[in-house]
Amino acid sequence: MTADGLRIGICGLGTVGSGVVNIFNSHGGLIRQRCGVDLRLTHIGARRDNPDCDLASYRVSRDIFEVVRDPDVDIVVELIGGTTVARQLVMEALEQGKHVVTANKALLAEHGNELAAMAEQRGRALRFEAAVAGGIPVIKTLRESLAANVVSGVVGIINGTGNFILTEMASAGRSFEDVLAEAQALGYAEADPTFDVDGTDAAHKLVILSSLAFGVPLDKDGPFTEGIDRVAPEDLEFARELGYRIKHLGIARRQQAGLDLRVHPALVPEHRQLSQVDGVLNAVMIEADAVGELMLTGPGAGSLPTASAVCGDLVDLGRTLAGITGDPVPILGIPTADLTAQPLLSPDAVTCPWYLRLVASDRPGVMAEITRLLGDSGISIESLIQRPPQGDASHVSVVMLTDRVSGGQIGSAVAEIEMLSALKGGVTTLRVENFEEA
Ligand SMILES: NC(=O)c1ccc[n+]([C@@H]2O[C@H](COP(=O)([O-])OP(=O)(O)OC[C@H]3O[C@@H](n4cnc5c(N)ncnc54)[C@H](OP(=O)(O)O)[C@@H]3O)[C@@H](O)[C@H]2O)c1
Repeated sequence: MTADGLRIGICGLGTVGSGVVNIFNSHGGLIRQRCGVDLRLTHIGARRDNPDCDLASYRVSRDIFEVVRDPDVDIVVELIGGTTVARQLVMEALEQGKHVVTANKALLAEHGNELAAMAEQRGRALRFEAAVAGGIPVIKTLRESLAANVVSGVVGIINGTGNFILTEMASAGRSFEDVLAEAQALGYAEADPTFDVDGTDAAHKLVILSSLAFGVPLDKDGPFTEGIDRVAPEDLEFARELGYRIKHLGIARRQQAGLDLRVHPALVPEHRQLSQVDGVLNAVMIEADAVGELMLTGPGAGSLPTASAVCGDLVDLGRTLAGITGDPVPILGIPTADLTAQPLLSPDAVTCPWYLRLVASDRPGVMAEITRLLGDSGISIESLIQRPPQGDASHVSVVMLTDRVSGGQIGSAVAEIEMLSALKGGVTTLRVENFEEA
């Protein structure tokens, strides 16, 4: 910070970086007015220009590290993604005495403890509102607005691509591959959509949310993770018939025995607000003791929504830094030395109702055998649908909703059912999230 104000350098000029430049180009005056200091974009690091934004007013370097080493930059905005060069970049920025704003959830989930501690030691800020749920201000809500609450749970739809794919498959009966190709064409999905599809991206975000909610270190391997690729079009149809929608959820709950951290598709009752959050929208529901239950919803990705969160961090930081050194807001809500690991629950121990779907020979005794195997494992069936699969009169599709049982109980019963010769293929298992106490 100089008498001239705060100067910002951006590294990376893709979807989010160009959005930040566009917001500064159109709202620079408003931002300075709201910030109270002269917050100014000065230096852009980009390997190439981006036709979506005008760089005429800025210094541009093809080497992003020139931004980090520029003595005329006070805040470095890391928007390159990935975890290797991005880690190097953020570390060097902090070493150079810069404050850092990032949208990079993978970097935080993997190296966040190290980077937060380093920023803290050097009295520098590390802000990351855009890293979770894009434009939704969930980080600030958890870290600051709910600072007086004990948070018991955070449940959310935190990957827009996954939600778009499930919504389209459910409403238009389209195949997974077809919708994924459209999501890529529309720019929702990454060129390599693996992390969107296999749940890794949502798991990274859940790691960040659970650290803020429960005061635990960031642990990228913490959450049990399943992707949307295990959901077939017929599961979406059967779920609807049973009064549910299938959503890909991130769930972080504080239980007596430890933390329950999970990312997986789940059946959500259709009367719950969360089940109505469609398309690329995200939603995060927070359960906390003083405030009760609240839900934030909005665009979880995209150029301007994500840039809005980045710029919000910059304004906040500008206000905080005016006249002082160091960020008085602890990066993870509490000093990093006070972050304390807690035991994690095994998914086998966590209970919930389950959705089971299988295809079996349509002959007498088969259903009785399946229900006996479930009964032997202490599992009761709450609802059942039975119907022939299309074009196959000799088999029957069976869908069951069970009572609340543990993952371990379901796993062993399903292993036995899958040994029956009458079964065609495996058993699809999906959890039901009905927001009732375990
Ligand atoms: N897109 C969203 O909606 C969204 C939402 C929330 C968070 N985020 C996060 O925001 C970050 C940026 O995402 P994005 O969607 O803007 O990505 P993107 O469109 O792929 O843009 C990345 C930019 O970084 C540059 N870059 C990448 N690696 C580089 C390297 N080693 N050296 C120099 N430049 C490099 C790229 O340059 P080239 O063009 O030359 O490759 C490009 O300009 C990621 O961490 C992402 O997870 C994105």
